[in-house]
Amino acid sequence: MSYQASNDERKLKVVNLASLESQVKPRMEAGAFGYIRGGAEDEWTMQQNTEAFKHKKILPHILKGIDNANLHTSIFGIDLDTPVIEAPSAAQGLAHEKGEVDTAKGVAAAGSIFSISTYANTKIEDAAAAAPNAPQFFQLYMSKDDGFNKFILDKAVKAGAKAIILTADSTLGGYREADVLNDFQFPLPMPNLAAYSDKTGSGDGKGKGIAEIYAAAKQGLVLEDIQRVKQWTNLPVIVKGIQAAEDAEASILAGADAIWVSNHGGRQLDGGPASFDVLPAVAKTVAKRVPIIFDSGVRRGEHVFKALASGADLVAIGRPVIYGLNLGGAEGVKSVFDHINMELSITMQLAGTKTIDAVKNTTLLD
Ligand code: FNR
Ligand code: LAC
Repeated sequence: MSYQASNDERKLKVVNLASLESQVKPRMEAGAFGYIRGGAEDEWTMQQNTEAFKHKKILPHILKGIDNANLHTSIFGIDLDTPVIEAPSAAQGLAHEKGEVDTAKGVAAAGSIFSISTYANTKIEDAAAAAPNAPQFFQLYMSKDDGFNKFILDKAVKAGAKAIILTADSTLGGYREADVLNDFQFPLPMPNLAAYSDKTGSGDGKGKGIAEIYAAAKQGLVLEDIQRVKQWTNLPVIVKGIQAAEDAEASILAGADAIWVSNHGGRQLDGGPASFDVLPAVAKTVAKRVPIIFDSGVRRGEHVFKALASGADLVAIGRPVIYGLNLGGAEGVKSVFDHINMELSITMQLAGTKTIDAVKNTTLLD
């Protein structure tokens, strides 16, 4: 039987982002849900990602005459309505039959940035066409085959990508027990792989598990690959998956135009620190030389606030966007952004900070 995905298109009443997961579970095939929700091994790092925001507190300031928070910000000269962006996630066709097309529309409606994964269920050009005037990034899983790398980066440039995300924390998959228990294999093709596979027979990802797909990725990713991607595309390159300050330093020296602090939502190395706990040290080393994007475990506006106050310039959300896509398509994705932006606005006003810059200049309490 062919894979059945949601086709709902509706605005959501979001009470909080964490509650979306339980709403989606009964609506989605067990293997697909397990793949999306799952973390690696004991899921300790995944749980710590959200728990870690309790390690820092926001000291409110009053009598600042603040009536409306201003969430506007920018990156690479791109104006944004919110500091919250979508984190790239593979195979969004699992969540909704429109997949990345609807996510692109919903994120565009939120005035934010959509990033399409190498392993998307939508052609890069089709996601771009879905939101023609909205900024999009392309997230690259570098292949062992440079022919593929050049092919797919060329597609991204032609589709108008504004930056390339080079994901560097996933040269192979974390050990995800949900996928083992469910014997999860992707039920839908990945058309950007398929387009190249027509030339090489490398396959389109359908019927494979993530471990098998990762096996085709370049295992020995090195700093020099940053420059290679820059030369191939003439676009800014964001290195995603950085947790160690010295890796941020090395990446900047190797040409990185932005640093994405992330532990992949706890899906890769279990037993590592919460992403929020490593952010301050990375930010200190980066010293505002390049923008920092932060993700992993963000579920509240106050989490966004704390990440911005700890050195991030933008904050990305992963699973909540996928859940919003499943529940309501493009409007569902927009509803997720509207909700977290509402929470952030409340947090900013009660904290006495009117602008994103003011938040970035806030000192949190231990
Ligand atoms: C991801 N993530 C991811 N990252 C990436 O660079 N390329 C990818 O294709 C994917 N695919 C993917 C699929 C699914 C189902 C999930 C949940 C995540 C990681 C993603 O970009 C981000 O780092 C985390 O999802 C952030 O953590 P939260 O917000 O999901 O807790
Ligand atoms: C994942 C890969 C695709 O986390 O990034 O599943």
